[in-house]
Amino acid sequence: MTDDPTIAYDLFKQFERDKFSLVAQKYDQAIAAVTSQVNEAILDAVGAKCGLRLLDVACGTGWLSAAALKREAIVTGLDYAENMVAIARVRSPQASFHNGDAENLPFESGQFKAVVCNLGILHFPKPERAIAESFRVLKPGGRYAFTCWTPPTCNPFMALILGSVQTYGSMDLDLPPGPPLFRFGERGECERVLIAEGFTEVSVTELPMKWTFSTPEDVMAKVVVSTARLGTILAMQTLEQRRNIENAIIDGASNYATDSGVEIPASIMLAVGYKP
Ligand SMILES: C[S@@+](CC[C@H](N)C(=O)[O-])C[C@H]1O[C@@H](n2cnc3c(N)ncnc32)[C@H](O)[C@@H]1O
Repeated sequence: MTDDPTIAYDLFKQFERDKFSLVAQKYDQAIAAVTSQVNEAILDAVGAKCGLRLLDVACGTGWLSAAALKREAIVTGLDYAENMVAIARVRSPQASFHNGDAENLPFESGQFKAVVCNLGILHFPKPERAIAESFRVLKPGGRYAFTCWTPPTCNPFMALILGSVQTYGSMDLDLPPGPPLFRFGERGECERVLIAEGFTEVSVTELPMKWTFSTPEDVMAKVVVSTARLGTILAMQTLEQRRNIENAIIDGASNYATDSGVEIPASIMLAVGYKP
């Protein structure tokens, strides 16, 4: 595949690694419980069970790895951000965690019966390469599952955050240009790329989930300190833009207030393939 001149491959990869390392603790406290809502669906999709050798790519702070360990799978995790891996190691000392790149997996071919990747694919500058690497390390007969956020058109949380930036701020920021955030939130794109990389029995399912916050005021603050690209987009706005964006987010989030806080709906696309 030829390189896309609009993507700053190396700079973007470094940005993701450094930013996720910086926010690792906050990510673990504020975001991992959100992303983990789809853990059981991912593990079901790859048939995770006792004794199955499973690789968790972009494992973050290791919540999906921990869920796989509960099923008594034999778990290896990998993430590019050192501080993410450090937290995962403390959480699950019985798994084996590696600091490494999804696009260049440090494993021999045909090692794993399952490879999973929860919300990692949108962070890789060359996602096809990461998918090809996952295919390579799978045994024939193994399954691969990855997830991605659905686009704002069918994802109220993303619509609220990015819509507020588009209305009151700017997306023209000095950030290393990366791959499109929602490319794999499209069913057809997931199917096309998985089949092109050699997978069969491909299925793509949209899974509903929720972002929960204690108050509408909590939403922007949490996103800024505990995410990479999204938080940086918010943090880089001018003071006035930030104030207006924050007001818009508070207004929008108030529509989702419940007795116990705020629950903003969202959804995730789960794509699964089989290595023949
Ligand atoms: C949104 S987090 C998802 C973490 C975890 N899977 C979860 O569901 O909570 C994205 C993760 O991708 C990792 N990441 C980004 N680029 C990577 C790369 N090239 N190789 C491996 N991991 C990468 C980040 O460090 C971060 O931990």
